[in-house]
Amino acid sequence: MHELNALRALAEQASQQAYAPYSNLRVGAALRSASGQTYAGCNVENASFTIGNCAERAAIAAAVQAEGQNFRLAAIAVAAFTTDGTALPVSPCGACRQAMVEFGSQAAVSFRQPDGNWIEVGADALLPFYFTLPAR
Ligand code: THU
Repeated sequence: MHELNALRALAEQASQQAYAPYSNLRVGAALRSASGQTYAGCNVENASFTIGNCAERAAIAAAVQAEGQNFRLAAIAVAAFTTDGTALPVSPCGACRQAMVEFGSQAAVSFRQPDGNWIEVGADALLPFYFTLPAR
């Protein structure tokens, strides 16, 4: 539980690095890999809106860069705040859910509610019937 709290604190910290001048929603994510390492990410927006990237996938990219193809996702925490520091509810978007199950369908996903409580759910429960490439 201490480990999980540390991961959640890391996600809150990571949100402060966000580049979100368009939405003003600063999202941070922190994950723990199966090997016990932690990686963080924040959202990075762009004037060309559709090329913006989410915090969760930034953290996953950092983990893959560090650990390579053996990276497995054990847990990931996500938190969001406005520019002035007000906590907002956040739930991982569909694309990020698909990215999570790629690396750990059983991963523990937690996301912060404005009151400081965290919802925790398995990655596969967040995305039922998720896509896998059919064998051909
Ligand atoms: N965002 C994330 O970083 N993660 C999510 O799961 C949902 C949305 C970001 C993308 C964009 O920069 C901002 O939040 C508003 O959509």
